[in-house]
Amino acid sequence: MDGDAMSVCIEIRGLSKVFTTGKRRVVALEGLDMDVADGEFVCLLGPSGCGKTTVLRIVAGLEPATGGSVLVHGKGVSSAGPERGMVFQEFALFPWRTVRRNIEFGLEIRGVPEGKRRAISSDLIDLVGLKGFEDAHPDELSGGMRQRVGIARALANEPTVLLMDEPFGSLDAQTRNLMQKELLRIWSATKKTVLFVTHSVDEAVFLADRIMVMTARPGKIREVIPVPLKRPRDRTSAEFIAVRGTVLAELDEEFEKARAKELSPD
Ligand SMILES: Nc1ncnc2c1ncn2[C@@H]1O[C@H](COP(=O)(O)OP(=O)(O)O)[C@@H](O)[C@H]1O
Ligand SMILES: [Mg+2]
Repeated sequence: MDGDAMSVCIEIRGLSKVFTTGKRRVVALEGLDMDVADGEFVCLLGPSGCGKTTVLRIVAGLEPATGGSVLVHGKGVSSAGPERGMVFQEFALFPWRTVRRNIEFGLEIRGVPEGKRRAISSDLIDLVGLKGFEDAHPDELSGGMRQRVGIARALANEPTVLLMDEPFGSLDAQTRNLMQKELLRIWSATKKTVLFVTHSVDEAVFLADRIMVMTARPGKIREVIPVPLKRPRDRTSAEFIAVRGTVLAELDEEFEKARAKELSPD
């Protein structure tokens, strides 16, 4: 995707985050810069503990930054807002609510009248492929179906940005591949901007317009790798495997650094 021709959706400059718990001080992020264009699908990839979730939570407004700036469509982020929808790894659904009422949760909070809620949730149930399961409860659903509910619930507030934190991390390989295809279908139908965290190189190459590889903690962007492959992508093609190799090489160095750091804590 050509970043120059498009308007900027997310703009992060010099982002830092320090966690202080008692006497322990963890510098999670330091000097992180990032631009995501409108409608773009960006995967944020990095070793465990490098600060991926922290970046998403700051963009979502669930966590304050220590320094730097985060703009979404030119506006500074200071709290959560309906234009930024979050999809968590743990499905975080209400077990006592049906599929429909989980999807409608944010709308209820905002006081959207029942008729309108109904119309929105029906459209989303169609979009994410949950027709026939409107009245089921989360414990009656498979992992993939629960994550469909999670995606629909995030879309219900009509966000312009979807923030996804390893949403398919706990799914089996088959379901995960299916959900990746489903997400791309939903993404092209809704034209959302997606910032998707993963630690799977394969998943990132399958999904992303651009892959941002993070450094080991303190996290910042090490490298931005465009994925110039047409969709649907073939994981067995030579081009796919070549991009995968490039990304893996970047990531491997950071894994090594993260491991070295673990052996000598700061
Ligand atoms: N609430 C918190 N309090 C203290 N430390 C935290 C907190 N959240 C995250 N961290 C630390 O910040 C670093 C980055 O965490 P996180 O963003 O969860 O990484 P990732 O998602 O890449 O695995 C880790 O060292 C983690 O232990
Ligand atoms: Mg995380």
